[in-house]
Amino acid sequence: RDACSLTPAEWRFDCYPERGVVVTRELCEARNCCFIPVSPPSSSATRPSGKNGVPWCFYSQDFPSYSLVSLKDTVLGQKGKLVKDVKTYYPGDILTVEAEIRYETDTRLRITDPSSSRFEVPISVPTATKKAENPDYVVEISKQPFSLVVKRKSTGAVLLNTAVAPLFYADQFLQFSTSLPSEFIYGLGEHRSTFLHDFNWNTLTMWARDVPPMEKTNLYGVHPFYLAMEDGGNAHGFFLLNSNAMDVVLQPSPALTWRTIGGILDFYVFLGPSPGSVIEQYLEVIGHPAMPIYWALGYHLCRWGYSTSNNTWEVVKSLRNYGIPQDVQWNDIDYMDKSMDFTYDSTKFDTLPDLVKDLHAHDQRYVIMMDPAISSTQPEGSYWPFDEGLKRGVFIKDAEGKTLIGKVWPGLTAYPDFSDEVTHEWWYDNLQKFHEKVPFDGLWIDMNEPSNFLDGSTNGCPSNSLENPPYTPGVLGGLLRAKTVCATAQQKMSIHYNMHSLYGLMEAKASASALKRIVPKRPFVISRSTFPSQGMYSGHWLGDNRSLWKDLYTSISGILTFNLLGMPLVGADICGFSEEPEEELCVRWTQLGAFYPFTRNHNPQDPTAFSPLARTAMKQALLLRYSLFPVLYTLFHHAHVHGHTVARPLMFEFTSDVKTYGIDKQFLWGKSLLVTPVLDPGVDYVVGYFPEGLWYDYYTGISMRSKGEELKLHAPLDKINLHLREGFVIPIQTPNLTLWVSSGQPLHLVSALSDDGSASGDLFWDDGESIDTYETDQYAYIIFNVTQVLTLSFSLATYITVESASFYGVKEKPNKVLVNSQDAPFTYRENQVRFGVMRQ
Ligand code: GLC
Repeated sequence: RDACSLTPAEWRFDCYPERGVVVTRELCEARNCCFIPVSPPSSSATRPSGKNGVPWCFYSQDFPSYSLVSLKDTVLGQKGKLVKDVKTYYPGDILTVEAEIRYETDTRLRITDPSSSRFEVPISVPTATKKAENPDYVVEISKQPFSLVVKRKSTGAVLLNTAVAPLFYADQFLQFSTSLPSEFIYGLGEHRSTFLHDFNWNTLTMWARDVPPMEKTNLYGVHPFYLAMEDGGNAHGFFLLNSNAMDVVLQPSPALTWRTIGGILDFYVFLGPSPGSVIEQYLEVIGHPAMPIYWALGYHLCRWGYSTSNNTWEVVKSLRNYGIPQDVQWNDIDYMDKSMDFTYDSTKFDTLPDLVKDLHAHDQRYVIMMDPAISSTQPEGSYWPFDEGLKRGVFIKDAEGKTLIGKVWPGLTAYPDFSDEVTHEWWYDNLQKFHEKVPFDGLWIDMNEPSNFLDGSTNGCPSNSLENPPYTPGVLGGLLRAKTVCATAQQKMSIHYNMHSLYGLMEAKASASALKRIVPKRPFVISRSTFPSQGMYSGHWLGDNRSLWKDLYTSISGILTFNLLGMPLVGADICGFSEEPEEELCVRWTQLGAFYPFTRNHNPQDPTAFSPLARTAMKQALLLRYSLFPVLYTLFHHAHVHGHTVARPLMFEFTSDVKTYGIDKQFLWGKSLLVTPVLDPGVDYVVGYFPEGLWYDYYTGISMRSKGEELKLHAPLDKINLHLREGFVIPIQTPNLTLWVSSGQPLHLVSALSDDGSASGDLFWDDGESIDTYETDQYAYIIFNVTQVLTLSFSLATYITVESASFYGVKEKPNKVLVNSQDAPFTYRENQVRFGVMRQ
């Protein structure tokens, strides 16, 4: 027992993670673990079941683990056999395990269990064919007990060290731990938290769940990926390719434990070394996000509770009247007849087809809500989606093979099984038929965790080890079936136990491909539940937030995290989803929301509901977004083609400045635009951090030089602070009511010169909606370069022109300005040269 007390508290790995159990010495020692109650001992000798605190029961140094008994070279690396002779306290111990180490590329290592007997996540990942020649990593293997160390070759930094705790490989309990090189860890979605994760015994549970976002609980999506910083500004990434319910535990050593209850241990280490390159390497594995259709980047307006199509229409007209830009109008379930998919209420929404026609006539678009669950209680012959679904066998079955029935908005419902191709065809048929009535342009797929107002089904769920696993991660509700279907439910690919967190991904895939067949343009899909690789099919919104200042702030981490996770098309409900927003909050939220990659207000209040002052401030923020469309569109191109982030944390661009590592109140668009929103009530200033260098006020062009410091900025209600980073050129356009109109305007180039007088930027431009324009070479890509003699050079495609330009940071008044070798009139003041005027 002395050995036990030698283990420092922060290095104790929990041997009794079960919740709701009073862990006594007896229970603990029955697991052959160390028991040291942590002071101050509470009178009942219990510890909080929330599992936040030093474990009282933890693995001893000699706790049995696996031994490596053979290791041989393979084409890609090595393959080893691990055996264990002592059973653990979990049933279904797998006593012989294979581990394959694949040196896939110089910056990507994959370690997996190559035996094919267990469930594996059905997403396609690259297949390496030869071993990386000059990897940036070294792998060290210990035999007895088996453990792995992965180091960065150049610095010796230890990225992974599994020797810190025993390995578990039981049928329903797979676990390993690793030390971490720092406490700077990001990702691990979907959770409500600060951008930087907390290491104070923080358990992040993953299992798709419908619940208004709150801290310390599993939410809608599942993304077992983290980005970690090392000393000196290097970064690496780690991805566990597993879809089962799991816990990720962060503890202050710092160390991390992966604890999953199914599938296999199959993971990747990405060597970066910059944070951006880690994400590129991750997205090479899971797939790059789709290039959005241009109007996806406009302003979207939505609401749960437009009681009629005419009410919806009134709002659209009112925005037009006030000159507030709007590209897309949405409808929630209200439009449906009794909340049933593929129907519309012929009384209250009788003018829906006309509304859609009118939107189209104004170059606006229409997005409609689809929930996956299908009403199962309509008289036979009256509701084709269900009748036909039954006929084709598309619905998820219960353990006995009968259609599983749950309950959602329309009452009792069946759940389409999107893991079956037959269901995709049925989904398409339904969408296509409905599209003939209401020609929607995009789909909002909600409730796809999948959500159920019951636990399991109308008949409950069987009682067995899938429903009540030997260990249940910290899922909200305590049971896998809480507010979803039974874990034992049967899907084509596997049991729901394995498939649950993939539901949103598979529905998104079916929806995007159906839309593409209906309207042969880039499909627009926004999904609530997500899983790695989903960026290829949909964007995401952060779910049912509240109209609170706190939710305004946490939206930034949510957006930054999803950009790391390969889903850059992400936004939070502007002004909050539930509760009435105060006017000031809604203004500040619209300003911040204008910089969400996906900008949607989903709140009973639209901008026209407020005072003229507030309305004008919101309008300005949206016009600003519209004028920056060429920048945003180009960033999405880089996300699609190179796996870049769009909304980007400061630490991505300033890796050597540790002060940026925790920043989640500000962010960048790409490399060049720094957004500093107001996140507090009653203030007319905001404090922002400015990494070292020259920064230009976007509106005035006036520069300030930061030493890497916090600066107080003026921020009256009608202003969101925006700064341009030295050395960049951005193309902007005169905004208009829709992107269709504004994106046809000539460009204005803004150059923010660095000290040496140089700057550069780029533009990706195409028709905005055709599929695969990059892949089929139907685009223009333009690089702008300002050189020291202040020559701005570029060549343009025929369908876009530059009419005017501004140069910020010109130290002396130029004698003349030549445009295409011709003298051009210009102005010079406050170190700025401008020629031409942006059209109004
Ligand atoms: C869910 C969605 C929300 C929607 C509501 C009604 O709560 O997250 O956005 O308004 O359902 O459909």
